[in-house]
Amino acid sequence: DLGKLADRLHYKAYAVGGFVRDLLLRRPNLDIDIVVEGDGIEFAKEFAASHGIRARCHKKFNTAVLIFSDKLKVDVASARFEYYQYPAALPIVEFSSLKMDLYRRDFTINTLALTLNPDDFGQLIDFFGGQRDLKDKIIRVLHNLSFVEDPTRIMRAIRFEQRFNFKIGKQTATLMKNAVRMGLIQKLGGRRFFHEIDLILMEENPVPAVRRMDEYGVLGLLASGMRFDTRMEELFNRIRNMISWYRLSFLDEPLEGSWVYFLGLLSGLHRNDLEKVWNRLEMTENQRERMLWTYGQVESLLRGFFQLPEHRPSDIYRTLQPFKPEELLFMMARTEREEVRKAISHYFHRYRRVRTELKGKDLKAMGVPPGPIYRIILDELIDAHLNGEVKSLQDEWGYLK
Ligand code: CTP
Repeated sequence: DLGKLADRLHYKAYAVGGFVRDLLLRRPNLDIDIVVEGDGIEFAKEFAASHGIRARCHKKFNTAVLIFSDKLKVDVASARFEYYQYPAALPIVEFSSLKMDLYRRDFTINTLALTLNPDDFGQLIDFFGGQRDLKDKIIRVLHNLSFVEDPTRIMRAIRFEQRFNFKIGKQTATLMKNAVRMGLIQKLGGRRFFHEIDLILMEENPVPAVRRMDEYGVLGLLASGMRFDTRMEELFNRIRNMISWYRLSFLDEPLEGSWVYFLGLLSGLHRNDLEKVWNRLEMTENQRERMLWTYGQVESLLRGFFQLPEHRPSDIYRTLQPFKPEELLFMMARTEREEVRKAISHYFHRYRRVRTELKGKDLKAMGVPPGPIYRIILDELIDAHLNGEVKSLQDEWGYLK
């Protein structure tokens, strides 16, 4: 349908970038990017109107997003052919604006395009040897200034290399090292730098990519003492196991896996290095406080609470309740002690969802005057549940009496 609309408007429309790359690699990708040679906003508006969906337009960038559903969104960009109008008879002209658009991109494997117009639907367009590099498993930039134009590409190269198990081309690797040496990463804003690190930590297995960041000297830019040594690598592998275990056990629950890795990455730093990283990445006050709180609490629990010979379930519940799952997974990876992991696992599986049968309204019906006393009574009931002292509504009544 996108192609038909393009025909009607006398535009050419292409699927481009990561979507085409992943299609050829047979990897799922629902982030579809489209480039139209024409007015992308008009294109998106018309398409949205005729298909009863929403289009979000960004006039400044001449781009729009077609929102099919929460998961499926299509980005539409305009390659403005007005700027490159040459005599229409030359075949090269047909593609010229698309070619300009693709030339601005990071790596050859991200420059492939597929025609959407019905007449030559599905035709693969490859200006820069992207197909060959996909086949040879190589990450290659299009020109020598690529990392100067956009230093985030240094991290993107590492991310793609590890995700696809490709190699960074020789020339590209040299350009990357030079870019790091020239201090181009220091020019990156903190938020963008943080975002790129986050993207790496969101990968299915970030371990080799973080090792590569160290090899390319990117980690050392965060804090001089930061290394991806064997200790850190072991910690990362344990974190990875914990995250997989959690995701498998609690399929529907959201988890920010990257934050667990990030806690691990910064966990060995002294306070002044930690502050350097915070400032460099422009982390929010909230993030800083939460991180410091987590480190402090984790250490004190491992030295104090978890050294006690026995724990009642209600004590584990009360102790672990203030933590987010990400923080508890960090604690599980941080400790070598199996019994601590077991206690946290019990908390996740058995304790954290325990609820009372009796609710506030029942207490009200019993004539208990509303106030903080409600919380205290219900908390006691929860503890009694956890410790196996009550099991049913009947028991709860009995317990209260
Ligand atoms: N791109 C670029 N330079 C950047 C970021 C993006 O050239 N610094 C281009 C690439 O051509 C890329 C496209 O913009 O294909 C879209 O980028 P992104 O949204 O990051 O998507 P993907 O390449 O698909 O990456 P991912 O699979 O991680 O989403």
